[in-house]
Amino acid sequence: MFAVPENTVAAPADLSLAHPVRVARELAADRTSWAHLLRYDPQQRFTELLDRTDGQEVWLLSWLPGQHTDLHDHGGATGAFTVVSGTLTERVIQHRTSEVLHTVVAGQSRVFGPNYVHQVHNDGPDPAVSIHVYRPGRARMTTYEHDPLDGLRGT
Ligand SMILES: [Fe+2]
Repeated sequence: MFAVPENTVAAPADLSLAHPVRVARELAADRTSWAHLLRYDPQQRFTELLDRTDGQEVWLLSWLPGQHTDLHDHGGATGAFTVVSGTLTERVIQHRTSEVLHTVVAGQSRVFGPNYVHQVHNDGPDPAVSIHVYRPGRARMTTYEHDPLDGLRGT
């Protein structure tokens, strides 16, 4: 335990400086800020840009059962996503060779760094909602195919 001087001023809560998981989690908890934007689109995964600054983009996504991304990276970007409701499955390609599946339930988050290759699915019976943070935003994405024998190949 330590004493805080009386003249201490709390630093402003600048979310652009916070860890991307914190940004995603705080927005996930602040449903009133995005609930009016949420849609479910049976034709394609729903995406809505919630915030864009010089260094960051924040997106709201919804996933009906069966909807998924392609296998992709986010170039040199780092980021995170938090599942708000439902369950998502993340398929991660490690070292360009092996695959790992992560089940991400509501309240859980995943973090990624540059050149991270993954694919996200809603394999469950219920719709899912997630919030994604990318730094920087507008990073160039590459899509891939992964074959256990031939490895990772850009498409
Ligand atoms: Fe991604």
